[in-house]
Amino acid sequence: MSGQLEGKVAIVTGGASGIGAATVERFVEEGARVLSTDVQDALGQEVADDAGALFMAQDVSDARAWDGVMAKALGEFGRLDILVNNAGIVIGKNIEEMDLDSWHHLLGINLTGVMLGCQKAIGAMKENPGGSSGSIINIASTSAFAALPGDVAYTASKSAVRMLSRSVAVYCAQSGLNIRCNNLVPGATHTGIIDTAAKSVPGMVEMAAAMSPLNRIGQGSDLAAAAVYLASDNSSFATGSDLLVDGGMLAVHPGY
Ligand SMILES: NC(=O)c1ccc[n+]([C@@H]2O[C@H](COP(=O)([O-])OP(=O)(O)OC[C@H]3O[C@@H](n4cnc5c(N)ncnc54)[C@H](O)[C@@H]3O)[C@@H](O)[C@H]2O)c1
Repeated sequence: MSGQLEGKVAIVTGGASGIGAATVERFVEEGARVLSTDVQDALGQEVADDAGALFMAQDVSDARAWDGVMAKALGEFGRLDILVNNAGIVIGKNIEEMDLDSWHHLLGINLTGVMLGCQKAIGAMKENPGGSSGSIINIASTSAFAALPGDVAYTASKSAVRMLSRSVAVYCAQSGLNIRCNNLVPGATHTGIIDTAAKSVPGMVEMAAAMSPLNRIGQGSDLAAAAVYLASDNSSFATGSDLLVDGGMLAVHPGY
């Protein structure tokens, strides 16, 4: 099916790579006009050019950079319907190894960046021509449900994002804003983040595949397809929800 996002305007953060790049491509295929952002500007520009999207360099942890991104989206497209808060990093430090700089760095991107995105997007979506409306998709992780002992900051950030989304969802609903906010929850997905983690955990990709009853690792396209659903009007009754796309990883008892 195509055209599910016809007429809609989307911002996707972390659009240079992995799930973000796949989402930029799929959203354009579905008819959306897309502004992709990332700290990797050369790769981000290349991916956006190939997909037919716009690109802007952005560090999601920087509040002023968000103002620039909103101004660009509204200046180019005149409205904002969808925000995918996708940019994220891993650090790979357990509680004993964790230093304060790494902790703040990760939380600045994975948590504060998501909060800022929600706040700025609501400001823009409230002013949409035709009335307040929009869909915010925050990329959480299965580590918001089951902890990663080797990445305490990542686990903390993703579980915080999971509840942040609910707070935003209920606030928007109770304020009559017609703005939805949902978590998209990837399981192990073959992207840059997994390749980085695999450097410190040999056999990571195979292990990740074995954790899924489907016995495979996810692809960016699996998550992009789910993001289309949450971004489209097909999900108009879904808000404050967790959409798990994890190959059944969290469905299985650890003993089986
Ligand atoms: N791959 C997985 O197995 C997996 C599982 C669960 C959740 N996730 C989440 O999915 C999201 C996308 O990750 P991915 O797997 O595609 O990894 P990725 O590394 O391929 O992509 C992440 C992108 O975010 C960008 N980025 C990093 N810091 C940024 C910043 N400060 N500002 C703007 N952009 C920044 C990177 O440059 C990169 O392009 C992340 O939030 C990640 O936590 C991934």
